[in-house]
This record gives sequence, C-alpha cells and structure tokens, in this order.
Amino acid sequence: MAELAVNVDHVATLREARGARYPEPVAAALAAETAGADAIVVHLREDRRHIQERDVRLLRQVVKTRLILEMAATSEMLGIALDVKPDTVTLVPEKREELTTEGGLDLITHQAHIREAVSTLKNAGIQVCIFIDPDLDQIKVAHKIDADAIEIHTGAFCDAETEFERQNEFSRIVDAAKIGTKLKLRVNAGHGICYNSINAFKGLSEIGEYSIGHSIVSKAVLTGMDTAVRDMQQLIKAL
Ligand code: PXP
Repeated sequence: MAELAVNVDHVATLREARGARYPEPVAAALAAETAGADAIVVHLREDRRHIQERDVRLLRQVVKTRLILEMAATSEMLGIALDVKPDTVTLVPEKREELTTEGGLDLITHQAHIREAVSTLKNAGIQVCIFIDPDLDQIKVAHKIDADAIEIHTGAFCDAETEFERQNEFSRIVDAAKIGTKLKLRVNAGHGICYNSINAFKGLSEIGEYSIGHSIVSKAVLTGMDTAVRDMQQLIKAL
C-alpha cells in the first residue's frame, strides 16, 4: 500500500506572513502523524521563506515516523543535512524567484555535482531521493548516480488544462514509474496532487509514496474554520 508524506511548509508560510510565532509547523506535523501520516516533509529553502532551520531541528527531535528534508544540493544545505540527519533528503532544484518548485532536477546537466551530493549523504546514512520529471533519460541517470529513490514530478499532470494533455502527462508518469521500478529505484510522486487528482493513481502500484502539502494544508484551513470561529465567538459572548 502506498504511503502518505505530509508537507507542512505552508503552515510555516502562514507564520512567516505575519512574522508571528504561530501557527507552529512542528505542531502541525505532530497532528499529521496522529492522523496517520507516514512521514513529514519540509523544504528548507535558501531564502528561508517558510521553513526555518529551527523547525527542521525541532522536527528531527519530535517526528516519530520519518523526516524527509527537501533541499537544493548546495554546500550550505548539505552541511545542515549532515548535522540534522533526516531519514531522507529529497534533492530539488531551486530558483529564488519561483513560487514553488517548478520542475524536476536536470540530472543530465548536473550529473557530476548531484552524484557527489548523493554519495556524501548516503555515506552519512541518509537515504537520497531525487525529484525528477517523468523523463526516462533523467531516470536512467538517477539510477546511474546511485540514488535510492526518485520522486516523479506530477505538477504537469495535475495542472493540465485539457483532457488530452492530462492523459499524455499521466502516461509519462506511468512509464516513469515502471522504468524506475525496473531499475530498482523506489518510486514516489508529488507536486500539485489534490483530493481529485489523487484518484487517477488508483492501481499504479509502482508508486510507494505520495508527497502532498498544499491541498492538505488548504483543506485543514477550511475544515478548521467552523471550530475556530465558534471558539472566538464564545469568548466574545462571554466578555
Ligand atoms: N514534492 C516536492 C519535491 C515539492 O517541492 C513539493 C512542494 O513543496 C511537493 C512535493 C508538494 O507539493 P504540493 O504542495 O503541491 O502538494
């Protein structure tokens, strides 16, 4: 059965938007685990726009499932990963100006650099996953440089605007999942998956883990609104 890795970055986005001490992404991670999450994911970005180093260190202490750290393969991030020792590092590309991770890592261009990062992390006992577009040549390189796992970028599928595009993108994901499994890589998937698009993956047993953030945090905000307003209204009525 496939597992669910819950990304809590956007709880930190809300905290940082206000420059406040809450909402606390560590508390969100614990709530996600209580609700059945199989792993917790955070992306420590170079610009620290949401998750902070302090969050990653606290999560390492309290997460009881698995901690997955998404990061760019920079020397600063490698230093933090070697110190914090998450269970898994997912290597992602990173551009300062992007709203979210926009594509998979280009392993063909950056093969030597990423190979070195994979080896450094694996030597420290950290599993390495590479976030990659559903492209067979890229997946072959992931295998060649000894990654443990790939996370197939599902963004193009989830954002497809026509049925033709959607089907085309999904068949790329299916082919990528099959070739990854054949090469003995663990195959995960993520980016843009929501409560509708997840249903398309029924029966695609090659995918072992789904990494999902935005749709879950968005639903949490809306499903929690009723209680949040009632609780404040009760306090105001009691004034
Ligand atoms: N996987 C990777 C590599 C990501 O960068 C992200 C976004 O942080 C996700 C999965 C989760 O994507 P979403 O927030 O759209 O569910």
